[in-house]
Amino acid sequence: MSYEPTNYLDNSIMKAEEYLKRVKPVADESRWKPKYHVSAPANWLSDPNGFSAYKGDYHLFYQHHPYAPEWGNMFWGHMKSNDLVRWEHLPVALAPDQEYDKDGCFSGSAIEKDGKLYLLYTGNVWTGSDWSQELLQVQCAAVSEDGITFTKLEQNPLIDVAPEGNIHPYHFRDPKIWQQGHQYYMVLGSRSQDDRGQVLLYKSSDLLDWEFVNVLAQGDERLGFMWECPDLFELNHQHVLIISPEGMQPEGDFYHNKSQSGYLIGHFDEMQGSFKHHDFHLLDYGFNFYAPQTVLDRQGRRVMIGWMSLWDGDKPEEAHQWAGAMTIPRMLTLKGEQLYSTPLPEMESLRKERVSHTNITLDQEQALDGVRGNSIELELAVQAEANSVFGLKIGCSADSSEETLLTFNGPEGKFILDRTHSGEGVGGIRKAPVHLQDGRLFLRIFIDNSCIEIFINDGEQVMSARFYPGENSDGIVFFGDGSAVLEKLNKWEMDSCWL
Ligand code: FRU
Repeated sequence: MSYEPTNYLDNSIMKAEEYLKRVKPVADESRWKPKYHVSAPANWLSDPNGFSAYKGDYHLFYQHHPYAPEWGNMFWGHMKSNDLVRWEHLPVALAPDQEYDKDGCFSGSAIEKDGKLYLLYTGNVWTGSDWSQELLQVQCAAVSEDGITFTKLEQNPLIDVAPEGNIHPYHFRDPKIWQQGHQYYMVLGSRSQDDRGQVLLYKSSDLLDWEFVNVLAQGDERLGFMWECPDLFELNHQHVLIISPEGMQPEGDFYHNKSQSGYLIGHFDEMQGSFKHHDFHLLDYGFNFYAPQTVLDRQGRRVMIGWMSLWDGDKPEEAHQWAGAMTIPRMLTLKGEQLYSTPLPEMESLRKERVSHTNITLDQEQALDGVRGNSIELELAVQAEANSVFGLKIGCSADSSEETLLTFNGPEGKFILDRTHSGEGVGGIRKAPVHLQDGRLFLRIFIDNSCIEIFINDGEQVMSARFYPGENSDGIVFFGDGSAVLEKLNKWEMDSCWL
């Protein structure tokens, strides 16, 4: 049963909080609720929003529908952390309670100015029943002095129409802002009138008055019809533009998800409002990764969190009154034109008991003593030949009817994630292009009840997936064709990320 208000004037944070309190115990009982991947207290979570540093803490907001485990009228949920690893929930930050955002406080970002935390977000209003065309999106702000309670600005909406030109008048959302010198910049997700994804650049000297600069980047038809949730930042003297294109078509083994997120490496010229860039690359080759957002942390590292997206197929956790989880924080680095994503080193502080094995020839299916579990991290170094085939099965049931397969296939030059027999939920196969590094494959695998993240070769490729194994399916089995040796395996039980 849902208590969703029928009128936007009734959409209060207090009501949402009361409802969440009531349903949280149901969500907490779910064996699929992750232990160290953050999720909402209950009901729907999607895009990370407002990922920022403020008064010594990191704040992470998210697209949140407090009244049901499905996408709906969006609020902003809120949590904070001191180290980006251990989190606590804070009250819902934004409710769609104004005429200009009554059908959703859509995605956006946050920035500190004069000791206050500003949220910039998209107010969404449906103007008809065809939500693909009949909508109005405007850019708005809210401000807080304590990082907990936010007040929407009287000047809202700050940007009430899309610029003229070959720019869709209504699909105009997800402001990501940053400061450069005395100037604030904003990138916005957009589409052209002829259905190409694009990013718009704005600038402002006070966060309130925004001037349109340029269409910063635009795709061809290969790159979909709309670019959502852009993020632009400098990394190692180059610039990275992250985009989440909707509508890309499968090409060979890639782009099989409904929507995917990737990046363009290039040079941003703020004077010209231009961004010259190289080709699009995926940020993640798994099934579930979308709308990531980054923050520059206290140590100057660029840290990214993404939504383990749930657009495709059923969501078995719905039955338990929750839906959606974030990835662990990933640190981004550049090697040439390749972006590497590695687990934030502080994730190691969640490690508990360790089990280790060394030098095991992978020639048959074998379980290893003490290596199983639902909330664990695995670290592997495998010595292999270029045409070796080996891997591991996780989430195995005792009768082997359930398993999730992770295979290095040397002849194909791919790492393959196979969910066909994972349990409940949608199956399918995803592949990442992978080669051995000096005759070795390095893996870090994070398994957390219904979340898997696989970091391959120190973050050269990443694959993320949701999966729904049965109650006792926590077995792990290694396999190979005899040509590979598991030189090192470490397994840690993982602690909860909740304070
Ligand atoms: C991406 C997205 C954003 C939008 C939000 C609405 O998942 O579609 O473009 O702001 O979700 O929930």
